[in-house]
Amino acid sequence: MIRLAPSILSADFSKLGEEVNTIEEAGAHLIHVDIMDGHFVPNISYGATVMKSLVGKTKLAFDVHLMIENPDLYIDDFVTENTEFITVHVEACPHLHRTIQHIKSLGIKAGVALNPATSLSVLDYIIDDIDMVLIMSVNPGFGGQNFILSALDKVKELKEIKDITNSNLLIELDGGVNLNNVKEIIDAGVEIVVAGSSVFNVDNIEKRVKEFLETF
Ligand code: DX5
Ligand code: ZN
Repeated sequence: MIRLAPSILSADFSKLGEEVNTIEEAGAHLIHVDIMDGHFVPNISYGATVMKSLVGKTKLAFDVHLMIENPDLYIDDFVTENTEFITVHVEACPHLHRTIQHIKSLGIKAGVALNPATSLSVLDYIIDDIDMVLIMSVNPGFGGQNFILSALDKVKELKEIKDITNSNLLIELDGGVNLNNVKEIIDAGVEIVVAGSSVFNVDNIEKRVKEFLETF
């Protein structure tokens, strides 16, 4: 099953609850939560308080994408009854194994994100311990950037590894996804599709979510 995870980074924060209800009713599967610290990435987004304001307002699970330095200090803040995934960047985790074990000890699925220039080989000794790999198809930090094509090759390679090892690992992709490229992205092996600006920066969010789901 392919899942759509709209990123609320591109939502209108003055009516966040409303827009989350709209994507939920339209059939989106997850809420992608982009946390940026202005250090690991050159932009600051929002923190756990904003995410937690949605607890009790939606049944959708949170897919937390931490684009921050020292994520170990903040992981616990993102644990809520809605939190399904917490993903950390391999580039920000010198003790990745320990970080992953910590996320799992909290009863949350653990993901590892790779920047566009990071090789899949960093996963060699952690792949059996994680639930998801997030392939970045833009340099993290901003919504609305152009899709970096080499991400597709990376997804295909990861899919081969997944098939050989017969693992339950999920493949997620994030950045520059739109209605024109989503089919190719899914064909390459992506199971969780993140989309920010192409879901929220439109006149009719509900219609756009449904258009995405029709391509799945
Ligand atoms: C980028 C974030 C993305 C972003 C995607 O750093 O991790 O989740 O919101 O936005 P779009 O879909 O507009 O590229
Ligand atoms: Zn993201």
